[in-house]
Amino acid sequence: MSRTGGGKKLKGTGGSTRVDRSRQRVSSPGGAKSKGSSSRKVSLPFLIASGVGVALVSVLIAVCVRWAMTSSLNQPIGLPRVINDEMMGGAQYKERLWGSYRSNVYFGMRPRLPRSLVVGMAWMYGLATPTGEVSLYIRHTCQHADNLGRYGWGQHDGRSFGQQEITDSYMKLSTSFIINTLPGALGESWTARIRADSRSSENATISLLFYVFNEGTEELSFELGNSGSTIESITGDIDTIGNFRINFTPTVARQPYYSYLATDLNKISLLSHFIETVLKEGRSPLFPGERYIFDSKKTKLVVYQMHGQLPLEFEVTYSSGEQVPLVGERFREELAKYSNYFNKKFEETFNLKEKGFSDDMIVFAQSAFSNLIGSISYFYGESLVMAPGMKKPINYFPAPLYTGVPSRSFFPRGFLWDEGFHQLLVTQWDTDIVKDVLGHWLDMLNADGWIPREQILGEEALSKVPEEFVVQYSSNANPPALFLTVEALVDRMEGTNKLMDVNYLKRIYPRLEAWYNWFIRTQKGPRPFTYQWKGRNGSTFSELNPKTLTSGLDDYPRASHPTSDEYHIDLRCWLSLATSVLIKIGNIIKVPTDDYKEYLKSLNDFDTLNKLHWDTKRQVYSDYGLHTSSVKLVTDRDANPPVKIRKVMKEPRLKFVDSFGYVNLFPFLMKLLPPDSLQLEATLTHINNESLLWTDYGLRSLSKSDPFYSKANTAHDKPYWRGAIWININYLTLKALNHYKNIKGPYQEIAGNIYKRLRNNIINNMYTQYKSTGFIWEQYNDRNGKGKGTHPFTGWSSLVVLIMSEKY
Ligand SMILES: *[C@@H]1O[C@H](CO)[C@@H](O)[C@H](O)[C@H]1NC(C)=O
Ligand SMILES: *[C@@H]1O[C@H](CO)[C@@H](O)[C@H](O)[C@H]1NC(C)=O
Ligand SMILES: *[C@@H]1O[C@H](CO)[C@@H](O)[C@H](O)[C@H]1NC(C)=O
Repeated sequence: MSRTGGGKKLKGTGGSTRVDRSRQRVSSPGGAKSKGSSSRKVSLPFLIASGVGVALVSVLIAVCVRWAMTSSLNQPIGLPRVINDEMMGGAQYKERLWGSYRSNVYFGMRPRLPRSLVVGMAWMYGLATPTGEVSLYIRHTCQHADNLGRYGWGQHDGRSFGQQEITDSYMKLSTSFIINTLPGALGESWTARIRADSRSSENATISLLFYVFNEGTEELSFELGNSGSTIESITGDIDTIGNFRINFTPTVARQPYYSYLATDLNKISLLSHFIETVLKEGRSPLFPGERYIFDSKKTKLVVYQMHGQLPLEFEVTYSSGEQVPLVGERFREELAKYSNYFNKKFEETFNLKEKGFSDDMIVFAQSAFSNLIGSISYFYGESLVMAPGMKKPINYFPAPLYTGVPSRSFFPRGFLWDEGFHQLLVTQWDTDIVKDVLGHWLDMLNADGWIPREQILGEEALSKVPEEFVVQYSSNANPPALFLTVEALVDRMEGTNKLMDVNYLKRIYPRLEAWYNWFIRTQKGPRPFTYQWKGRNGSTFSELNPKTLTSGLDDYPRASHPTSDEYHIDLRCWLSLATSVLIKIGNIIKVPTDDYKEYLKSLNDFDTLNKLHWDTKRQVYSDYGLHTSSVKLVTDRDANPPVKIRKVMKEPRLKFVDSFGYVNLFPFLMKLLPPDSLQLEATLTHINNESLLWTDYGLRSLSKSDPFYSKANTAHDKPYWRGAIWININYLTLKALNHYKNIKGPYQEIAGNIYKRLRNNIINNMYTQYKSTGFIWEQYNDRNGKGKGTHPFTGWSSLVVLIMSEKY
């Protein structure tokens, strides 16, 4: 068996813009070097005589400037990779080679290897319309428009087992799998069981489909059963995984029909189109009659189809090398064992029963957890990136990414700051997975120390995002929330202090430093120890308040008129966290940390913090910049067609930005306030105030009394971080409250009181919404607690499990 594919060729990555959260194109003003100015500066006297000479030099210099920008922009940093060949070939990697790493489909699996096998499920059914015709429905990629009642993992351990339930119209589907890799034996095996039951008493039929696609170049072979229309097995010998066999076994079926399809498909980006459109549009033998279609010069995609009355069930097994997959009764038994073990480990890890939660609430927590860990996916590819001054984007270096995703339906790809929150939850469960995910992200560093903010890797991911939103700008940051993960990981390791862990820390440390230095170097503010999110658009006229996508809090109000004078409180606090984590690791791996200590001392100096950011008049920490809140969107009737533009009613001036919400809490969230400070008292008072942030469902993102509260930013942008309740910041708030309630000080009791009420509000509302809608949501409405935004959103909203478990 050979495994030589790109899996070992670890290279870089790419990025993209999440369609809704970051719909804006962002690029940085300033710092751009134009070709013209470069050539002027260098042109030599003896060449000036000749126009040809000038042109030549200009071209040469332009090429050099381009080359210099390009070479660091899309080159990996010259440091040893975290995920190296040893790790890729090692036992850890092999154990988690296969997984449900295709979170964008209702059920799919793939190995963590580029250009390899990809498998997935779809289903199809017809419903009679009032006019007596039959409408066909096909389900494959997770979509809001499918309007499913519920879907998601009830249990998933991130490694070898998962169970999912899906409700759709009159049926309930279950997908379960076990990856059963015997240590020591060559190869891998897994078994998946797909079952559909009826939710009504009437006889109903359904078509279950399961496809196998090779993204590499090799052909697949298949064998038909006796009837000549059912696939019994698919085999192949492909570069990435060697010889393999996939078998299909119907296990529950009354008078079923089978059919199959084998065809050539050269791109994975065409897969969902093929499954969801071509199959549906009459080329599929959904109903008896047409039995199968076979139109293939080269077989790359094989679809197994089973049609019949509910209930309907089949097993599909995969094996390579010497591995023998579990089938039938043995599979059932093992599934029950895994499920029991999951329950046991869940309680040992999160202690929810011990804390008095009902069985029903534990089911909710298990679902939140399982969907986070079960949506961890694998991508391979390269992003489009651009540096200031470049005219066209270029490809980043190709690389694999193993990462959680915020939402299976809407954001099924990697997002830099989200991941720092995702892995906090996984750290409690399985630190091997965390180390692996973190390593992949840190291996995305380019030669400048930059990591692209959003990752659209591979044709499948790319095909879903319009090109203008794909490009990542190398001047732009995103909160270094991965330092939260690193901190949690180090806390878990402490005490154990195993050699392996220290070696891991040694591997990631230079990369963390390079990333950190990129922030310090590029996101500088106008004064010492001030910091600025670059990339805000100072010339936009359509936004009520120009967005700051880089900060992660897109439309949270900042200085209304972006200039180089502004500086941002949240970025400063993120860097304080990052510095303290570097010191912590430095002490463990025994490298000098004096410089960082010195820097942290200045960064955390309370007087400096207050001088720069404390607005004495309003008693809140604030951004500073050229600002006015007297703005509104008006219709410009001179334009054709009329558009909404911003009208400034009162001229801006340099001052504290007088908004209040999540951004202003950051010194508190990062625990930078002395426990006896008036600043702490004021912050607690504001949090607790219903006219400001407090609601019965959690803290809202922007004060109800704020001029920008609930305001749309443009004619097309709904308010996003302007009032809605977000779980990641509520988690950080509870973490900080937990800190202040446990250390001595005059505000200990009030912190404890707020902590208790906030925690209850979050848990109760998210649970209530889950019961009534079937989902965990991206945000919650601050007026009535209702889930809003995308769903399921089991990225950082799953932090509710840590909130229930009180692990901070
Ligand atoms: C359902 O199907 C079974 C066998 O296919 C048949 O005996 C039964 O009468 C059907 N029931 C209804 C309500 O159509
Ligand atoms: C800033 O906004 C203006 C007006 O909407 C737009 O034309 C321009 O391209 C934007 N600049 C950047 C760098 O995105
Ligand atoms: C709550 O905030 C409002 C609006 O700023 C203010 O008028 C009120 O006095 C505050 N209440 C308390 C108890 O601080």
